[in-house]
This record gives sequence, C-alpha cells and structure tokens, in this order.
Amino acid sequence: MCGIIGYIGTRQATPILINGLRKLEYRGYDSAGVSVLDTGAGASRVVRCRGKLAALEDKLTREPAAGTVGMGHTRWATHGRPSEENSHPHKSGPISVIHNGIIENHLTLRAELVAAGAKFSSETDTEIFAHLVEHALIAGAPDLTTAVRRSIAKVRGSFAFVVMSDKEPNTIVAAKNSSPLVVGLGDGENYVASDVTAILNETRKVIFLEEGEMVTVTRTGVAITDFEGNPRTHEPKTITWSAVQAEKGGFKHYMLKEIHEQPRAVADTLVGRVNLEADDVSLDGIELDVSKIKRIIFIACGTSYHASMVGEFLVESMARIPTEVDLASEFRYRDPILGPGDLVVAVSQSGETLDTMEAIREAKRKGAQVFAISNVVESSIPRLADYAFYTHAGPEIGVASTKAFTTQLVAISLFAIHLGRRTGTLSKERARELLAELVALPNKMRDIVESGAQIQAIARRYGAANGFLFLGRGSQYPIALEGALKLKEISYIHAEGYAAGEMKHGPIALIDEHLPVVVLVPRGPSYEKTVSNLAEVRARQGKVIAIASRGDNEIGGHSDDVIVVPDTALELQPILTVLPLQMLSYYVADFKGTDIDQPRNLAKSVTVE
Ligand code: G6P
Repeated sequence: MCGIIGYIGTRQATPILINGLRKLEYRGYDSAGVSVLDTGAGASRVVRCRGKLAALEDKLTREPAAGTVGMGHTRWATHGRPSEENSHPHKSGPISVIHNGIIENHLTLRAELVAAGAKFSSETDTEIFAHLVEHALIAGAPDLTTAVRRSIAKVRGSFAFVVMSDKEPNTIVAAKNSSPLVVGLGDGENYVASDVTAILNETRKVIFLEEGEMVTVTRTGVAITDFEGNPRTHEPKTITWSAVQAEKGGFKHYMLKEIHEQPRAVADTLVGRVNLEADDVSLDGIELDVSKIKRIIFIACGTSYHASMVGEFLVESMARIPTEVDLASEFRYRDPILGPGDLVVAVSQSGETLDTMEAIREAKRKGAQVFAISNVVESSIPRLADYAFYTHAGPEIGVASTKAFTTQLVAISLFAIHLGRRTGTLSKERARELLAELVALPNKMRDIVESGAQIQAIARRYGAANGFLFLGRGSQYPIALEGALKLKEISYIHAEGYAAGEMKHGPIALIDEHLPVVVLVPRGPSYEKTVSNLAEVRARQGKVIAIASRGDNEIGGHSDDVIVVPDTALELQPILTVLPLQMLSYYVADFKGTDIDQPRNLAKSVTVE
C-alpha cells in the first residue's frame, strides 16, 4: 500500500529518496515525507506534506534536508486521515520510523504508551512503533537493532518498518512481516525499499527479505537476522526486469498483479476487525443502534453494485433486517421513500463516484443515515457519510476492479456479522464459524490464484467466441453478473450474466455449440437446481464451464470443463468463486491482445453523471 525507500551512503540522500518515491507514484498515495540524517550533526530533519510528491519537493526547496542517510515514504492512509501530522516518517525523540502495513494491536499499545507518558502527535498506528523503539532504548537496549527487535516482539499485524536513530547515524534498521521489503546493494552505499522499482536506477543487486526477517544496513554491509536475532544469509539476486515490469512486480499487467494481491488485501481488510475470542466483529469502533434500523438500502455503481447485491443476501440472512439494493444512478431519480429508520450503505471503491455521491445527498436530505464502504480514506463519499468503514485493498491501478471487489465482499460480510450479533439473529456459534472461515480465506484464495494454467488453457479454447453467458443462483447470481462485466470490460466480448432459474425465460434461445456458458455451481442448497440448468445448456450443445467445489465428483459428467474452488461457508462462497471468473476474463483478454489495464472507453473513477 505505502511506498518505502531508505538510503545510507556518501551521496546526498534527498534526491535519491525523491527519485525512488517517484518510481512508486503509479501506486497512488495521499501524502509523502522524508527524514534525512546529517551524520556530522547527528540530527535528522523530517519534511512531510499531504498531497503529491511535487508538493513535497516544493517544500524541500524551502526546507532543505541535507545528509547522507535517510528514508522516504508515500502514504496510502489506513489509520488516520491523510494530513501532514499523519504522514510518515514519524518521530519520537531521536527515532524516525516509516511503515507499510497495519499494526493490529495498536489501540492496546497506544494506551500502554500513553500510560507510560508518551505524547502522540498523530492518529496513526505507525507512530506507536517510534515510541516503542525509543522506550526500548531508554529501558537499556544496547543498540538500535536490539531496540527494534524488542519492539517487534510487542507488535501484531503486518509490517515493513524502516527505522533510524539520530544517535546511531551510521545505521538503518528494517524489518518485514507480510509487507514487501527489498535490500539494495551498492558500492559504499546501500538501500532498502518496499518495491524494487524504487531502487532500480541505483542498483540491480538486491536481496528480498523473507517473512520474519530484519536487517541492519550500514554503508559497507548488511546483516540479516530473524526476529530472535539468529543470522540469516541470502544470495543477492540480479534484477534483469525493466523498470516498467518491476512496477508490475514481474506480472504482465496490473490487473494480474492485483488478482494475485487479493489474499493479502483480504487479510489486511480483516486485520483488527475480527475478534475470535468474543465471536464478534469490530467496525473500527462504529456502534450502530440496530433497534433503530428498520431497513437497509445498498447503493452503488458497477462492480461495487455487484458487491452490494451479495450484501443483500448477507445482511438479510445474518441480521434479518429487510434489505434492498439499488443502482446509485437510478436511486436518486426515483424519488425514493426514505426516512430515519433507513440505513443507506454506499459502496464505492474510489469514494468519488458522482452518482453514488448524489444518491447519498438524496438519502441524507430525506433523513436516512449513511454508512460508507470505501477503499480510499477521506475520499468524498466517506466524508459525506455518517459512518465510514474502509477496505484495505491498497491502490487499484487496473481499471477492471478485482481486489477492490473481494475486499468489499469481506467488509460487507464483517458488517453483516456485526449486525447479526446485535440483532441476535446470528448465533455466537455461527458467528464463530463464519469468522474462522473469513480468516481462512486468504490461503484458499492463494490456492485459486496460483492455479492459472488451467484457466489460461480454457481461455485459449474459448477466446474466439462471440459471446458468453454466465449463470448463478442466490448469491452466485451477482457473481455471474460480475463475471460477465469483467469479460466485456477487458475483452470486449459480449457477455450476459443471468439468474440460472431465469435462463429458460429467454437466454436459452442463444444456446448453440458456439456459446460458452459459465455456470457457478458450488455446493449449497441450489446445487441440484443449478445442475439441472447446466444439463439444459448441454442438451442444446452449449459448452459448459463449471465453477464447482473441490471434491465434487459429479459435476465433471455434466460439464466440458470444471474449475474447482475450495469449500467455505455458503455466505462466503462468492469471495472464492469470483476469482476464476476474473482470471478467465484476464486470460481471454490477454489472448485477444486488448489493452487490459486501460480498456477502451472506461475510466477508473467516474466523476460525471
Ligand atoms: C467505474 C469503474 C468500475 C467501478 C465503478 C464504480 O465504472 O470502471 O470498475 O466499479 O466505476 O466505482 P466505485 O469507485 O464507486 O466503486
């Protein structure tokens, strides 16, 4: 999510940091900052500001930061709105820290530090780490590396940290757990970075740190250990990719990279929200008074609308509150009947879609409360809403939404469980099962996204088709719509998503030996009915690609191809079944050679009506 670079050498650090951060600009961010240490003076200067890198560069011309050791950061806000105070680096005494990731136990640690006299100057989880390191040094840690190691032992969550101390001006310490971190090796100078792109202009010799490793970097060497202090060795690798390939992490397109980022994005969206001890969900401190909610209305556009359609199933089944879903562009023009008993849930990845914004204004005018789910902290929609709950997918570059969608489904599942526990319609036992299944999702998703070869082969076989039909029942129906949307967006092949039970009322006329029909048929109450629909397709020579549960030995007899997904709770199946559809669209489009990341006529964020 955030971009990180650190440098220690003999040249001025600031231009190297800025050039590195510029290479990460494609990821999108809301603020940036540097901390540069003047080795001779033994003092560091932090310069930060909200907005683009150009604003930081401008500030640096007025407030130059001289020195040969430094760190730079571009921030994608998770905890605390985008502002100068919340920008990294964060300082506590002589310690400067930058961080990518989420500290899960930040509230507890913050309370402990405040009780011990720490004064905080930001709302971020990151600042906690600066205080922890400073406290460890005061408590007797012999050096920065030990202080960082002792601090890591207190922190839960995902992180890549880079830490400097004014008192140890010849050292940078960095640590990695679930967030990427690479060490760059130079001659009399060394680097750390979140992405290899940031340092590719300086060196091609790198070491990718592994989970649970930390590194002490000086001008002349790097010492890698695990979090217990046991030495680790890695052979440096030489990067042969181009800068553009490196931005995409070696993937051919951003969309494919983002498909692969989904397990991580889902895990980040769950961090700090799932309470397995209490069988409950925290909506980041939001407490909704369920006795006042008579109806829930989801509003959204595009892919977010499909996530909202799944939301209708989740909220009704778990919380038993009557729920509707509407397209934002329709909702605002139909003079909707709304009042104080209504909770409008606005779902928007970008937080800037004009139709959704106007629908919220309409809802507020009529006295409804608004709960926003967005991926962009402090964007217009969450600011307009009464409550804001964020997905932590990180910036999505590909126009066709993938990781934003699955994290929306996760956020909506958390919302529904939270409500269900409060209405009393979701038992503690079922909540426990659902939460355990949510936590298990990232590994199951990894299983699917790493099995691209089969889907690629299917895509090649059907890539020349003129049209596709996608069928699903229940909460798989919105996934059928999403599958069709993905395919048309990036491959320009006409595709329709249909409720499987509706097929015989029209689309069945389309079926012949040339029509590939993708049928979502995981295990569940509608399994048999959907298998009957699938048989109807086959009886008319249609080609069936089934998305089915692993271990289903029946389905192969009714289908031309079967793509299996691991089992999960019925309510969470859409989060898994959508993955093969994203991948199928991607590979069909790649086969056709279309502009996958920027498909014709589409925009990532639609701020016009
Ligand atoms: C555009 C994008 C879609 C997106 C829709 C809604 O059409 O191309 O991918 O689903 O806007 O965007 P939002 O940011 O509100 O989720």
